[in-house]
Amino acid sequence: MNEEQYEEWSHYYDVTDEVEFREVNICISGKPSPDLWNQKRVLEVGSGSGRFTLKYADRTSLTLAIDPDEERIKMMKVKVNQLGLSDKCCPIAGELCALSKSLAGSDFLEEKFDVIVFPWSWAYIDNKIETYDVAKSLLAKDGMMVFTMVVDGEFEKFVIERNHLHKHLYETDAPNDLNRNIKSMNLLKELMEEDQFQMTKRSITTSFKFDNIDVASRLIYPLLIEEDMDEIKPALEMYSDDNGRIIMSDELLCVVARSN
Ligand SMILES: C[S@@+](CC[C@H](N)C(=O)[O-])C[C@H]1O[C@@H](n2cnc3c(N)ncnc32)[C@H](O)[C@@H]1O
Repeated sequence: MNEEQYEEWSHYYDVTDEVEFREVNICISGKPSPDLWNQKRVLEVGSGSGRFTLKYADRTSLTLAIDPDEERIKMMKVKVNQLGLSDKCCPIAGELCALSKSLAGSDFLEEKFDVIVFPWSWAYIDNKIETYDVAKSLLAKDGMMVFTMVVDGEFEKFVIERNHLHKHLYETDAPNDLNRNIKSMNLLKELMEEDQFQMTKRSITTSFKFDNIDVASRLIYPLLIEEDMDEIKPALEMYSDDNGRIIMSDELLCVVARSN
């Protein structure tokens, strides 16, 4: 997904936030409602506009949320102020490798982080090895790194089946999303094995419910032009329940790695 597509997509993105956060929390701990975040120092890499971050930041001692996308960070700052979380949650625009240099010596990096989260961002990071090395250097002893990604699901199948709609849209990007996730996952596994991290992989199927086809199609296909929209609506109807809500499920994979 390129920047322009994410820009548009992010306006619809928060629709699914509650359900994903709950599922990921279960993935991380193996049980619901963990005290996972309580009084922890957390670094979130690729926070976007804070969809995930703002579900837990109030419980942490500090959450540093970074993303190279300045617009998304601006959106997040507004939300942080509205929620009265500015003493707990600091959104900063930039990518991890550059920020680790510019913030060196600041209060933010004075102590290491108990938890470092990559919420649906690992697969999108270009300089993965360098980013992983920096994250590792910022992780506290016995700290935990969490990576989440979608690895399979109806959405992927749907996209692949309907690929003819994508000529001028994602072209090959959407079907390749799955490949990209798998490749990213394999690289992560190699890096972690080399470092002898203890890795736990948990996957869970989550359902996304959209109130109507317009919201669903906008979320799934952010840049759809009107004539494609007409073509896709009947297909999305296949996934509607009796109340006309669209339900699609994706398999989320969550990798939890503990340093030794
Ligand atoms: C699919 S979005 C997920 C955003 C957010 N975590 C969420 O769940 O709403 C992927 C995010 O990764 C960010 N990203 C891409 N490269 C990055 C990098 N090198 N360091 C940190 N974040 C990066 C993008 O700007 C984007 O906001």
